[in-house]
Amino acid sequence: MQEFICSSIKNFPSSAKVSWTSPSNIALVKYWGKKPIQLPANPSLSFTLNNCYTKTEIEFKKSSSFSIELYVDGQKNTSFLEKIETFFSRIKEFCPYLFNYQLTIHTENTFPHSSGIASSASGMSALSLCILSIEKYANNLSESQFYKKASFISRLGSGSACRSVYGPIGIWGNHNSFSGSNNEFAISYDAVHPIFKNYQDTILLVDKGKKQVSSTVGHKLMNNHPFSSLRYNQANHNLIKLKEILSDGDLDSFIQLVESEALTLHSMMMTSEPYFILMKPNTLSIIEKTWEFRKENNVPVCITLDAGANVHLLYPDQEKDNVLSFVKDKLVVYCENQQYICDRVGNGPTLIKEHYA
Ligand code: DP6
Repeated sequence: MQEFICSSIKNFPSSAKVSWTSPSNIALVKYWGKKPIQLPANPSLSFTLNNCYTKTEIEFKKSSSFSIELYVDGQKNTSFLEKIETFFSRIKEFCPYLFNYQLTIHTENTFPHSSGIASSASGMSALSLCILSIEKYANNLSESQFYKKASFISRLGSGSACRSVYGPIGIWGNHNSFSGSNNEFAISYDAVHPIFKNYQDTILLVDKGKKQVSSTVGHKLMNNHPFSSLRYNQANHNLIKLKEILSDGDLDSFIQLVESEALTLHSMMMTSEPYFILMKPNTLSIIEKTWEFRKENNVPVCITLDAGANVHLLYPDQEKDNVLSFVKDKLVVYCENQQYICDRVGNGPTLIKEHYA
């Protein structure tokens, strides 16, 4: 923690403009349950995506009074301000220089608005990278210090966001099998079989509405959950298995583990007190059809879910034509407005521009 406190505010620029793109991610072993402040109850591992990302630009102007102006898709926005202010209050200790500026933030997502795809991972990581860029400039941070702290502050914005700072895979949470893994920030992982380097993720948009129960509430319900300690043990064991699967490229075991994780996540929701269900009838239809297709055609495609009704289909690049024609023929009927997004494993965030004066 101490290493992330920026104690000198000497060399900071009087103005700056920085912009980054940062992707969303899809967890294979899920983070569900946390302790204050934003520490995971179990370690998690995700594929970083490529096409679903947030682009954020921050303009910094030195000022005696701190202020934030936020624009989403070019429109002035006040509804996300509260979330950003909570985030800023959490990172104040680590990034005190922020409060010497007037900030103008412009942000937009490549994925459709309110598509039910969580934008907090891409949004919070893009914001964090912009912030950290001026600290890198002022304090000459090395690349590795830069990404480490960017992941650390992203986590304070949204847990899953800390994994988006790295591609192709981010691991967050302490686990003996992954050296350097810890609860404070994510680490990058690429000791994987080539088949996973360009793995495909087709996201079927089942329900684009706002979720009835937010992730924040869902995480909280794990605190008094009857099965929480069993679940946390299972996630730890699954990471041991997944490490081997990712290195061997054993797709049958991959499918079995990834689907079990997704369904366990939703079983946790269904057995919380109070219980809730985020899957929709169309979610189940897609799962059923995908299992039929896999069995009949021997195609290694599997499903995973995040905290919502949308279904992610994960499969190797060479199965793309096969799976996409199956999606068009059999699955689009279950998607809202027949919408789906083609994505794949990516390499993490990109710096778009930086200018300091
Ligand atoms: C089901 O990262 O959105 O997607 O830390 O409260 O912002 P907060 O939660 P969030 O939770 C993500 C939960 C998940 C699983 C995962 O991404 O690991």
